[in-house]
Amino acid sequence: MFGVGVAMTIAAAVGCTKLPPPTPLNELNPQQMRGYSEFQAHCAQCHNDRTNDPLNGQSLRGVFKKQYLPSGAPTDDDRVMDAILYGRPMMPALGGSMTPDERQDLLAYLHTL
Ligand code: HEC
Repeated sequence: MFGVGVAMTIAAAVGCTKLPPPTPLNELNPQQMRGYSEFQAHCAQCHNDRTNDPLNGQSLRGVFKKQYLPSGAPTDDDRVMDAILYGRPMMPALGGSMTPDERQDLLAYLHTL
C-alpha cells in the first residue's frame, strides 16, 4: 500500500508524463556513467536528459520508454544510433566524435532516462 502511494506521489511530481523517472545518477553502473559523460560532451548543449524541457532539440528524457521517437519512427537502438552516426535534418552527425565503445556507453545511458 505504502509503495503504491509513493509511486503515485512521484508520478504526480513529474507532471503530466506517466513515464517512470530516470535512474538516479548515483545508481548508474560504470558503463552508464561513462555514457553520461559522453552525453554531457556531445548532446547536452541541444538536448535535456533529466527534464522534459526542449532545448535546440526535444528532451531525451524517457526516450527508450516511449514507443516512438519525435520523428515518428519506432524507438529502438538502431534508430537512435543512426541519429547519432548520421545526424538528423537539424542535428549534426556526431558518430565520428566518439569511438564505437563510447557510442555503446552513450546508448546504455540513454536507456536509463
Ligand atoms: C547542435 C544540436 C544538437 C546536438 C549536439 C545533438 N542533437 Fe539530437 N537533435 C537535434 C535536433 C534539432 C533534433 C530534432 C530535429 C531533427 O530531427 O532534425 C534532434 C533529434 C534527435 C533525436 C530524435 C530522432 C528522431 O528520429 O526523432 C535523437 C534520438 C537525438 N537527437 C539524439 C541525440 C544524441 C544522443 C546526441 C548526442 C550524441 C544529440 N542528439 C546531439 C539537435 C542536436
